[in-house]
Amino acid sequence: MSETMSTWVSFVASREPIDVQALGENLRLNHYCIDEVVPVVGESPAELAQGWHVVRVESSAPVQLPENVIGESILFPGMTQHLHYTSASQNQALAQRSRAELAPSGETTAVLIPIRKSAAWWQLAQDERYAHFQTNGQTPGHTAIGIEYVDRVFRRLYHSRYGSPPVPYDFLTYFEFERAYKEDFRHLLTELREVERNPEWQYVEREFEVWMTKMG
Ligand code: HEM
Repeated sequence: MSETMSTWVSFVASREPIDVQALGENLRLNHYCIDEVVPVVGESPAELAQGWHVVRVESSAPVQLPENVIGESILFPGMTQHLHYTSASQNQALAQRSRAELAPSGETTAVLIPIRKSAAWWQLAQDERYAHFQTNGQTPGHTAIGIEYVDRVFRRLYHSRYGSPPVPYDFLTYFEFERAYKEDFRHLLTELREVERNPEWQYVEREFEVWMTKMG
């Protein structure tokens, strides 16, 4: 799927297996099994737990999933957007160093992390928000921390803030890596959450991790 076009996504999480064939046509589907749900800050859905099934439904147009198929599922909707805070040189460096999406396997870990930022973040001016993704004299910031991991960690960012109906997070961040790099990924999370090195994270008021195995 081209990165220059928007992609609509719905992660469909369900206690029971989901009939993926009945979800619709022209959809890009992946399925996962939840290994662990880790609350970080703020509320996380209480019922979401190990053993639940997740289907990621991606499409080049908005999708209305059939009610009778998704039943009691929890939906996480979002869409890709153009870049907001990446300079041309950062973009080039990321493209050169980033690994591709992984094939499904018992050894492929995927992590979905919904994130909401505070009102104070959204009140910042564009240049103030942009500055959080750039290195300055004091702090490396988000992108310089992250780039050290992109040869092992595949990432995709979906935006959920202005969708309808509203959802209680602004972003769905999604990652894949070989299970062997689990500790590297944990280390990346620790680094991004250190506000002395990445002041952006002081604005994160809701965050939980959904660790999964990418089955198909
Ligand atoms: C794998 C290494 C990573 C790299 C290289 C990276 C890089 C970036 C870049 C360049 C952007 C700006 C996109 C734009 O221009 O709009 C961004 C946005 C974002 N990243 Fe990361 N990131 C990484 C890991 C993570 C992780 C692990 C998380 C979550 C725990 C995360 C959460 C976010 C969020 C929420 C945004 C959107 C922020 C906003 O628009 O306010 N990133 N990332």
